[in-house]
Amino acid sequence: MSKHTIVTMPGDGIGKNVLEQTIRVLTAAGFEADYVHADIGWEFWRNEGNPLPQRTLDLIEKHKIALFGAITSKPKDAATEELSPELQGKGLVYSSPIVGLRQHFGLDICMRPCHSYKGNPLNFIRRGPNDTIEEPEVDVIIFRQNTEGLYGGVEWSDPPAQVYESLMTHPKFKKNFGNTPKEELSVSTRIFTKKATERILRAAFEHAKKYGYKSVTVCEKPNVIRETSGMMYKMALEIQKKDFPQIAIWNTNIDAQMMWLTKNPENYGVIVAGNMFGDIVSDGFAGLIGGLGFACSAQFNPKTGIGVFEPTHGSAPKYADYQVSIVNPIAMIESACMMLDFIDENFIAKKIRKAVATIISEGKVRTYDMMKMTGREDVVQKGAASTIQMTDAIIAKLEN
Ligand code: NAI
Ligand code: MG
Repeated sequence: MSKHTIVTMPGDGIGKNVLEQTIRVLTAAGFEADYVHADIGWEFWRNEGNPLPQRTLDLIEKHKIALFGAITSKPKDAATEELSPELQGKGLVYSSPIVGLRQHFGLDICMRPCHSYKGNPLNFIRRGPNDTIEEPEVDVIIFRQNTEGLYGGVEWSDPPAQVYESLMTHPKFKKNFGNTPKEELSVSTRIFTKKATERILRAAFEHAKKYGYKSVTVCEKPNVIRETSGMMYKMALEIQKKDFPQIAIWNTNIDAQMMWLTKNPENYGVIVAGNMFGDIVSDGFAGLIGGLGFACSAQFNPKTGIGVFEPTHGSAPKYADYQVSIVNPIAMIESACMMLDFIDENFIAKKIRKAVATIISEGKVRTYDMMKMTGREDVVQKGAASTIQMTDAIIAKLEN
């Protein structure tokens, strides 16, 4: 038996391609592990009425560490139509297995690093003085609260009478919405708890301290969303003052942050935000370093040590049936490196990251996205590397 057992959830579409190639890289880099396959995704929704079967939850509970490719999700009605005939009419309702995983295991800390690789043609550039071109180095990590806020799922259309009556006790609701018929109301809540807010803030500060970042930026909107954003910022100030006085605290509003990240991305380091704003700001930064082919993430529960590591991209169904897979495996490979860091296999993570950096800076092997091509089956004939060719190139650069 190996020292580590890793649960692998390829999921749907290109999730299968990138995960398979990532395991090749891990093995070539000397990571010794047993891999246990777990079912997740569309196939299991259609055939079993559950995209996240209990047996998958049991495997993760047991082994704690999982690599996840991507899944296909569809809107509620489309999902019901695709259920196999014997499951139709049983009242099964589709819900996202990723959100399900987060909630089931309380994976409330989500980390999304965005750092630019030298030589990546997709890096953000800007015009400098005297017609110079500047390519600022982006080295940002976003800590996104992963289980609450706008994604908490507490929402209604035509809310029940009790909810409506409670809302009417709020003077602003009464004044601004009190004349709208109940049936015409949709309400989505944004709930923050102190416990989860403290956990994400502490994770961000700890990370800043450990890796020598000088500041932590709280990216919310406390001037308008006074209760939830306000609570997060206030708690951040208290935690910083008490336990991290050497780290500066910055406060930005999500809207302004989205502008600043294209003006001076090099000024930011650790960013912490609630669920929705964390999602937005991390996609914004990912765009500066090459987009979906490069955006990786970790989500974990610091108490139980359960962690799921996945690229930010989805299953890209239109490429799933290509004879030769064309997608960039780097986002998944980088996610696996985050897993290695998490289980204290930093040496192997470093080795893989170095090989990836070398391939990118040499610029000889590039997937279609790095060549700014439209993704089509013929991109490999036109000179783009396939998923396997990119993986081979990275493996060939691994040094001992
Ligand atoms: P997507 O991320 O699958 O693809 C969007 C586009 O990004 C693709 O068409 C492709 O051009 C590009 N792309 C994605 N991954 C790439 C890679 N590794 N290398 C190069 N280019 C890449 O998002 P889309 O099309 O919105 O959703 C497709 C399906 O994936 C949907 O069913 C959606 O619900 C699901 N999804 C799942 C996610 C997950 O599993 N975490 C996240 C996002 C979407
Ligand atoms: Mg997103």
